[in-house]
Amino acid sequence: MNTAQYGRGPQKRICIVGASGKLGRYMVAHALDRGYEVVGVCRQVSVGKLDSFAARVTIIPGATDDREVIGRTVAGCDAVLTVLAPRGVHNYASGTAQAVLDHARPGARLVFSCGYHISRDGQDVYSWKVKFLVNVVGRLARLARVIDLDDQVEACRRIFASDTRWTVVRGSDLEEGESQGLPVWSRHVGDPVLDSNITRRVDFARFMVEAIEDDGLVHEAPAIVGCRTPSARAHSVASGAP
Ligand SMILES: NC(=O)c1ccc[n+]([C@@H]2O[C@H](COP(=O)([O-])OP(=O)(O)OC[C@H]3O[C@@H](n4cnc5c(N)ncnc54)[C@H](OP(=O)(O)O)[C@@H]3O)[C@@H](O)[C@H]2O)c1
Repeated sequence: MNTAQYGRGPQKRICIVGASGKLGRYMVAHALDRGYEVVGVCRQVSVGKLDSFAARVTIIPGATDDREVIGRTVAGCDAVLTVLAPRGVHNYASGTAQAVLDHARPGARLVFSCGYHISRDGQDVYSWKVKFLVNVVGRLARLARVIDLDDQVEACRRIFASDTRWTVVRGSDLEEGESQGLPVWSRHVGDPVLDSNITRRVDFARFMVEAIEDDGLVHEAPAIVGCRTPSARAHSVASGAP
């Protein structure tokens, strides 16, 4: 990624909540490439993971579900990109989403990340693999108090019910590697275009950042897949369109 690739973007102020994670750092890079002013929120223990961006990004240390931290950070932002992390069993994802929904300025563009297991309208058709991961691995992870997928579901329920300008991006399985381009998307898991179920993490981040300027994604929950995957090549008519 480099700035010359995209030219100078609008001087919007963007907040990235969960900026230090793998997805978050890719989002920071994409947002800087587009000329946005970037503010990142991450846990105090993770601030060092953003060292390479420290000169160009304002970093606010704090838990992403800390309402005071989110309140003073997102208030002046034109867009907020939020990593919904189903960590622990203390309503971390729903607390994070609620803080962003409550404190973002009216009209701000809000883009949230999650996985295929989130369903907006119940019309998604899931493979045995997704069902197994959610119902067996997810339950075991909750018992171990490591991950709470139900809380990510609750976070998205609140987002879908809000009157903000939201988009919930539902990621497939992820892999590292060079960008392949903007992922394609569909409204429902189970649609053939998504069958390959794999996206480069760098491109997931690009989709999140480009959603800021794409009003067609407001009030959508796009399920994404890599644009060069076999299912995308076989079934999508145009990149980036359902
Ligand atoms: N991994 C996948 O295969 C996959 C598939 C589909 C969708 N997604 C979605 O993609 C997004 C990013 O997921 P990712 O897997 O790529 O991971 P990630 O980008 O590394 O994000 C994980 C986030 O969780 C935070 N975190 C880690 N441990 C934590 C803890 N103990 N308490 C609180 N926060 C903690 C991280 O913050 P720190 O930097 O502070 O650790 C980071 O912000 C998520 O919304 C996820 O639902 C992931």
